[in-house]
Amino acid sequence: MNKSLRKAVIAGNWKMNKTPAEAKVLISELKEKVKDANCDVVICVPYVDLQVALEETKGTNIKVGAQNCHFEKSGAFTAEVSPIMLKEMGVEYVIIGHSERRTYFGETDVTVNKRTLAALSEGLIPIVCVGEYLEQREQGVTEELVAMQVKIALQGVTAEQMKNVIIAYEPVWAIGTGKTATSEQANEVNACIRNTLKKLYGESVANGVTIQYGGSMNAKNADELLSMEDVDGGLIGGASLKADDFAVIVNAASK
Ligand code: PGA
Repeated sequence: MNKSLRKAVIAGNWKMNKTPAEAKVLISELKEKVKDANCDVVICVPYVDLQVALEETKGTNIKVGAQNCHFEKSGAFTAEVSPIMLKEMGVEYVIIGHSERRTYFGETDVTVNKRTLAALSEGLIPIVCVGEYLEQREQGVTEELVAMQVKIALQGVTAEQMKNVIIAYEPVWAIGTGKTATSEQANEVNACIRNTLKKLYGESVANGVTIQYGGSMNAKNADELLSMEDVDGGLIGGASLKADDFAVIVNAASK
């Protein structure tokens, strides 16, 4: 069993939810409930909540992430935020290539790769999201597609840098729909991602990479999903907005 080689990471993806004042309330509830976690706990909040999240989590075990970053350091890119800006604030993680970015904002595997490289070069930990649409699952191409997404996202990423990369498998049909992948489905694709990493970086690097599952993970199903050999944590949307539910998931990952 190689699962013990990897630290579980539970990351909340708040998406476009919570004003700074609301963020403060949620974090104050959360920090008590997850303080004894035996896994890494991250909250990826809207840009405008980053400052308050960093202040409220100071001295706690909760780390702060953003939900995207641009690939340039600065320049004429209206409304974008660069990794260097995030780093200076004290942000440690950044979600890259979430399916909502790909579907609604034109992100491609190539821009996901550029953003991943930029995040790594500033010392941020990218949470790189991959996953198939329902139609692609029905066409039987999930594994090929996810392997391709992973390969392109990681072009130019060194074996050394892979120690600071998290991959999140998020089947698009399971995100925000209440339809969770079964624990077998999640484990199967996560194992396929690990195999792709083995081909790219060798066995020992691949065995050390945290591969999360995301898509309607909640307080009820987290235990089973997180017990699977290749599921090393979760990227949690809806359930990360409720302190009690998020804490149950964190505790499930702490076993
Ligand atoms: P969900 O979202 O948990 O609400 O399905 C997960 C995600 O989009 O990261």
